[in-house]
Amino acid sequence: MTFKEDLGRRAALVEAYLVGCLRDRNIPARLLASMEYSLLAGGKRLRPVLVLAWNGLLGGDADKAMPFAASMECIHTYSLIHDDLPAMDDDDLRRGRPSNHKQFDEATAILAGDGLLTEAFVLMTETCLVKGLPAERVLRAIAVLARAAGSGGMVGGQAVDMELTGRTGVPLDELKKMHAMKTGALLTAACECGAILAGAAESDVDNARRFGRKIGVAFQIVDDVLDVVGDTATLGKPVGSDEAMGKTTYPSLLGLDRSKTLAREYVDEALTNLSGYFGCEQEFLWQLARYIVDRVY
Ligand code: IPE
Ligand code: IPE
Ligand code: MG
Ligand code: MG
Ligand code: MG
Repeated sequence: MTFKEDLGRRAALVEAYLVGCLRDRNIPARLLASMEYSLLAGGKRLRPVLVLAWNGLLGGDADKAMPFAASMECIHTYSLIHDDLPAMDDDDLRRGRPSNHKQFDEATAILAGDGLLTEAFVLMTETCLVKGLPAERVLRAIAVLARAAGSGGMVGGQAVDMELTGRTGVPLDELKKMHAMKTGALLTAACECGAILAGAAESDVDNARRFGRKIGVAFQIVDDVLDVVGDTATLGKPVGSDEAMGKTTYPSLLGLDRSKTLAREYVDEALTNLSGYFGCEQEFLWQLARYIVDRVY
């Protein structure tokens, strides 16, 4: 099996769980349609795949960790819906479809995001209440994910992104901090929570967290690069959006070549955290880290 086939197989398992995971929750029809419109629109499913890969690497059971993995995709999808709103990046295309507020309306898109964020917490608790993982592991993972998604993590990073939009002379270390928060935090939590849910030793949880931090920053550098050199049809979202909005990005500060080199260096550093492990999950995570810099969407 090639890496791409393996990633596709793992994403399909997540996809199968996402279909139907919001059903029977008393969600009004139009709101549910809007939430599922974005949640089931494709996407690489990297965050849930990372949860399950670190979980598997450290001896966890994929079926038991699945609701938690799905919750990460709900939170990520909500962040994309809100990111595209006119008050934020004002983008009309996402995952190859009209953005949520274009397909529905702004109020529905805001509420779809709110709904996905909150349902994510129901899914996290199901890891214990339905799948039977030990409460102390699940509680710790929920705390990690809540902090990563919240105001000191992804939401905070998005707030800094908004503050810096249109500003010139933004220093590289501020950009780096913003990237670590708005994108790095969730990717880090995915790896860390996978390890925690597996009941891993603290040294393994540390490795997962360090791996996540490095690939997280590399991932956003490449996202910024693709906003310049990518292709809308392949990406499924607009290119040139960052420049049009006056965003400071790695390419705008360092140029394309240095940005790509830097992303590669971060991935190399991430890989050092995998050196003590063996087997197919280790191999997959190794290739996934490499893919983050080589990806075209
Ligand atoms: C896009 O994330 C937004 C960022 C955090 C950079 P992805 O590139 O993972 O988007 P999907 O999930 O594949 O659509
Ligand atoms: C968004 O960064 C990060 C999020 C938390 C959603 P971007 O604004 O660069 O993401 P895209 O390029 O629109 O997917
Ligand atoms: Mg944005
Ligand atoms: Mg955006
Ligand atoms: Mg972007």
